[in-house]
Amino acid sequence: MGGLRSSKISLFPPALFFSSLLFLLSSIADGATPSSSSSSFNLSTLAFDDAYSPLFGDGNVLRSPNGRSVRLLLDRSSGSGFISSKMYNYGFFSANIKLPGEYTAGICVAFYTSNGDVFEKRHDELDFEFLGNVRGKPWRFQTNLYGNGSTHRGREERYSLWFDPAKEFHRYSILWTPDQVIFYIDDVPIREIIRNDEMGSEYPSKPMSLYATIWDASTWATSGGRFKADYKYAPFVAEFKDLALDGCPLEAVQQVASAAEELDCSDSHARLAAADYSTISRKQRYAMRRFRQRYLYYSYCYDTLRYPIPPPECVINPMEKERFKDTGRLKFGGSHRSPKRRSKRRSRARVVPVIVEDPDM
Ligand SMILES: *[C@@H]1O[C@H](CO)[C@@H](O)[C@H](O)[C@H]1NC(C)=O
Ligand SMILES: *[C@@H]1O[C@H](CO)[C@@H](O)[C@H](O)[C@H]1NC(C)=O
Repeated sequence: MGGLRSSKISLFPPALFFSSLLFLLSSIADGATPSSSSSSFNLSTLAFDDAYSPLFGDGNVLRSPNGRSVRLLLDRSSGSGFISSKMYNYGFFSANIKLPGEYTAGICVAFYTSNGDVFEKRHDELDFEFLGNVRGKPWRFQTNLYGNGSTHRGREERYSLWFDPAKEFHRYSILWTPDQVIFYIDDVPIREIIRNDEMGSEYPSKPMSLYATIWDASTWATSGGRFKADYKYAPFVAEFKDLALDGCPLEAVQQVASAAEELDCSDSHARLAAADYSTISRKQRYAMRRFRQRYLYYSYCYDTLRYPIPPPECVINPMEKERFKDTGRLKFGGSHRSPKRRSKRRSRARVVPVIVEDPDM
């Protein structure tokens, strides 16, 4: 995960430019939130122990009595995390998540797929990363993608949300197929990456595990580390329930390196392709557009200072581009400082997603 950070977000779009005007008109017609208001996915959910196990901070991984939900705690002694017991060669990874509330500066909650444990230098990763904030300021989050160790080429998008993720559960899902990646919040697709031949191995294509973690990111998460985690408010609790996961599982990690290519995943791929979450309906596409018009405030595709030629999967929408500066940030998005160009990198794949630190923020 990782990527550029920003401390300031504007929840409300500037009222006075074209696309936002269109948006306002459409939102008057259709209600203010991006909810696609179709029924949610048809998922069968899993007991924690059926598919996941603690990753670190075991004492801070608290299963509910019925074993179907789990709380991840961060306190002075430790953060915590869990990992899927198997790796999957493409799949769908999903959970209903409630984030810690109150004062959450310096806290990072991540829900992501990775194989950094197995492929150190050429790992793949797909991320949801939630960044806490000082009291009264909303959570922000970002999505990202790495393929075959492309940590020099972050593909971050950053957003605000249309609800308070600490108040109620919302479903966060990552669909990863041989052809596309879709990030969902509830049944709203918020980002779609269509595989493009020019991406080559930068499209994630080796088996990955699902990870969920909470940890202290005080050094960078909120205003560039200005606001640290305050353990007066500990423990910080992220709750996960209605866990769902489908894909082509590898029975053993050894399979990953040796025989992943020989694995017969055709049934699983067909099942994934037929699932409701693999097709974006017209209504959902509209909800996605609305979400992106209103809540997307940084896109690497429009960050021409960083990528003079946008990475090949970028679909440049001229109307959308119009709203962003050459730093990839919204023109009228409030007082975001512009990100410093390239930044340090570090990989702590055992515990956390790949983080590209940004001193801005
Ligand atoms: C939901 O999925 C199950 C199989 O997992 C299937 O039997 C059922 O018909 C599906 N329900 C709907 C409404 O599609
Ligand atoms: C992935 O990266 C490794 C190391 O950089 C490289 O040797 C390999 O050719 C890449 N794989 C593909 C399929 O491009």
